[in-house]
Amino acid sequence: MHYQEARRPQIHFTPQENWMNDPNGLVYFDGEYHLFYQHNPNGNNHADMHWGHAVSTDLYHWEELDIALAPDHLGTIFSGSAVADTHNTSGLFQQASGGLVAIFTHDQEGHQQQSIAYSEDKGRTWTKYEGNPVIPNTELQDFRDPKVAWHEESEQWVMVLACGDHVQFFGSLNLIDWKHLSSFGREYPSDDGVWECPDLIKLPVEGTNEKEWVLIVSINPGGPNGGSAVYYFTGTFDGQIFHPNEAASNALKWADEGRDFYASITWDNTEDTYWIGWMNNWNYAKTAPVSPWRSAMSLVRKITLQRHQDNYLLKQEPVISVGPVRAEKNSALTISAGESQSYDVTPYGSAEFCLEHPSEQWGFQLVSDQNEVFRLEINQDDDSYTFYRTEGQSDFSQDFASEITGALHGLKLEQISAIWDNCSLEFFANDGVVVSTNLMFPYGKIHAIELYSVKTELVVSQLTINEFPSIWK
Ligand code: FRU
Repeated sequence: MHYQEARRPQIHFTPQENWMNDPNGLVYFDGEYHLFYQHNPNGNNHADMHWGHAVSTDLYHWEELDIALAPDHLGTIFSGSAVADTHNTSGLFQQASGGLVAIFTHDQEGHQQQSIAYSEDKGRTWTKYEGNPVIPNTELQDFRDPKVAWHEESEQWVMVLACGDHVQFFGSLNLIDWKHLSSFGREYPSDDGVWECPDLIKLPVEGTNEKEWVLIVSINPGGPNGGSAVYYFTGTFDGQIFHPNEAASNALKWADEGRDFYASITWDNTEDTYWIGWMNNWNYAKTAPVSPWRSAMSLVRKITLQRHQDNYLLKQEPVISVGPVRAEKNSALTISAGESQSYDVTPYGSAEFCLEHPSEQWGFQLVSDQNEVFRLEINQDDDSYTFYRTEGQSDFSQDFASEITGALHGLKLEQISAIWDNCSLEFFANDGVVVSTNLMFPYGKIHAIELYSVKTELVVSQLTINEFPSIWK
């Protein structure tokens, strides 16, 4: 009977026990989505990093498998990626149909270099390449988290690597011999933050046949609400150089303005683009009050771009491939200023609704059976929203209890999807163009959601309360 502890997330992946951080090696191969992750198999703290491993056939249910990569004489195993080398470009496979290659950072007390390993049995066992490292260290202190993908146009593998205050691109024909292509980002302000876990992807622009290049960067600290967060640039990539669309001064766009979405990267070898993030923040990850595991991934999200005048915004739609076990549809309702309406909910589930008339200031709150309240309030006049994470357990970090704000980008909110689990709330508005992911640690169980309006009338249509199946069943 695993996965039954009081705070155990039921719709988010967690390791059965011990520490987890970044998602690594995301790849689809032979009917399975692989999720590797930073993992300490012997403790609930960030140490002795291995790659843990889980697989899924639907991006919702997960099965944890044995450890994939363990430390060796070159160091512990930090973050990285995996690709399906189906043409055996690496020459590492006996079969012409190839297999999986993992590209990761070896860390030896802060000395970082890039290495590879390969698997001929669908990721169950791995052989480290005997010529590791494939990219030895230069003099850079931060030199990690290789993300690799095949670049059609220039017919080569392209790696993006995090290097402190910038990224570097490398190219290769065989995943073994790498050539430096270019560097990007030194001119962007990162204050005291370090760039980590980059990704370079081409995303479709909704409603067009266009695709745009997107460069993803995690930064820690420096997030909009403190600590860890993910931002992105849109632009072009010609196989050598990334050219951003926007000028340096206004190029920063946050993928998720909540406090707990970090180190997100995309799956290799899929038609649509999916990603997942570590649902945590380095500001308090090490003391988060959960055990014997620590901690959880976000929901998987399908990502695309949406065009707004000259600007592209990332759109993230949560993947709950199985559908709800119970969906309670409610008739349209009008909530006057100063009024509220409450609905019973299960400890993990969602509320989905459309707004016919968004009021100027309105919100919803999740309430636990111990009367703890987690409130998210939208203020259209200020073009912002605030998540009040001030109740529940917060004694493990001075930084945890907070008011977490985000921007509405001039959008009138029309569609809302709020998805909660035993210790998180993911807020998606306008089909995932506005997103905020946050942990919360009620002592009780969430049992109600209350919709309210502060100013003017709120007209809600199609309100559905969903209960989801546990991902472990
Ligand atoms: C990001 C990160 C990576 C690194 C890994 C170590 O959260 O710091 O840059 O590879 O975690 O566990």
